[in-house]
Amino acid sequence: MADQIRVLIVDDIPETRDHLTKLLGFETDIEVVGAAASGREAIEMAKEMTPDVVLMDINMPDMDGISATERLSAEVPSAAVVMMSVQGEADYLRRSMLAGAREFLVKPFSSDELTASIRQVYTREQEKLSRIVVQPAAAAAAPVAAAPRPTNSVREEGEPGRVVAVFGPKGGVGRTTLAVNLAVAAATELGQKTCLVDASFQFGDVGVLLNLNPKNKSIADLIGELEQGEPESMDTFVINHSAGIKVLLAPPSPEMAELITPLSAKRMIEALRKDHDLIVVDCMSSFNDTTLAILDLADTVLTMLSLEITSIKNIRLFLEVAEQLGYESDKVRLVLNRADSSLGIRVADVEHSIGRRVDHTIVSDGRSVVYALNRGVPFFLSNREAQVSQDVLRLAQAVVGTNPAEVVGADAKKAAQKKSLFAWR
Ligand SMILES: Nc1ncnc2c1ncn2[C@@H]1O[C@H](COP(=O)(O)OP(=O)(O)OP(=O)(O)O)[C@@H](O)[C@H]1O
Ligand SMILES: [Mg+2]
Repeated sequence: MADQIRVLIVDDIPETRDHLTKLLGFETDIEVVGAAASGREAIEMAKEMTPDVVLMDINMPDMDGISATERLSAEVPSAAVVMMSVQGEADYLRRSMLAGAREFLVKPFSSDELTASIRQVYTREQEKLSRIVVQPAAAAAAPVAAAPRPTNSVREEGEPGRVVAVFGPKGGVGRTTLAVNLAVAAATELGQKTCLVDASFQFGDVGVLLNLNPKNKSIADLIGELEQGEPESMDTFVINHSAGIKVLLAPPSPEMAELITPLSAKRMIEALRKDHDLIVVDCMSSFNDTTLAILDLADTVLTMLSLEITSIKNIRLFLEVAEQLGYESDKVRLVLNRADSSLGIRVADVEHSIGRRVDHTIVSDGRSVVYALNRGVPFFLSNREAQVSQDVLRLAQAVVGTNPAEVVGADAKKAAQKKSLFAWR
């Protein structure tokens, strides 16, 4: 049958292979095209049979499921991998997703879970494929108008684009989440020609949030050229994402991060400035020379904090450093993420402690954020009406310089209320 989902099973245990084959044999829309006993065999069989979905065990002798997935992503990119593991740990999940897996099943799983995952992954891949072929600029599964909006760019021809560094002296405060959605908001709503740079060179997550294959081109491909000087054009290194933005991914393996010098980082961003209105940089939380070089050349440093003591302490230290570095006071903008999930600390307390007003706030919305993360679609597209998206848009407007008073009625009112809520003293 032409429209059956072609599945390849990969597991080193013969009983598991047989069991899965039998289970899937009951499904009329699924056809098991083969069963491989190792990662190496899986790659050979996948090349030959071009399955739609590969059910991949993670722990196998010879080549483990993660390495096999990496190879498959490069050599048979049309095959979507569903990883199977007895371990459901975050690290396994993260490594699998980075390797290019589309789903993660924790053993033991029911036959319903198994078939639902296969169908979901297959449908998603088909949708993605049709978007790539039919409408490259369309936003992934988004209720947002896909037509390109008129540009609001105030950038004159030849004038360098604006660089916005998303920084936070403590990890896990939401930098990547903000960087991705801010870039998408600026591109889709404000008509900015935007490039998102994953400068979390060691453990970049931008690709995961945007459902990009880690085998894609990345900064790693640029390292040699950057050592010679500023590249003429960055076109061949950036990925054109369906969410309307360009993306420059972090290197695929952590050890390559060391090869990116402060000078290379500077050259890379300066080169991007020539062709874009806005460059959003997702920075590392460690305050090293390369991060510093990026912060130095940024027009705006969105410094993220959360309502936690450690985050607040680090912000205080960072503000002192920023002052010593001579950054103008409006270059550093404080962004309080999950501003409404206080757990005992109030915004006013934070402001008092750091001796400065919080410039922007973003509400906590685990549902929209995690749903978006799991689907690899920015929440600004999948849940455009949510408050968290409105907050990101307002921030994008402030960064780009469009007047917040232009925000439609209700939003402007909300913004005004918020302002009075967080008024300093
Ligand atoms: N406004 C929000 N509401 C709910 N959850 C959020 C929000 N912002 C971020 N998160 C969640 O917080 C976690 C950390 O976010 P994110 O990965 O963006 O942080 P980060 O600063 O980039 O972390 P890292 O140090 O790992 O690079 C993620 O699970 C994300 O889904
Ligand atoms: Mg991050």
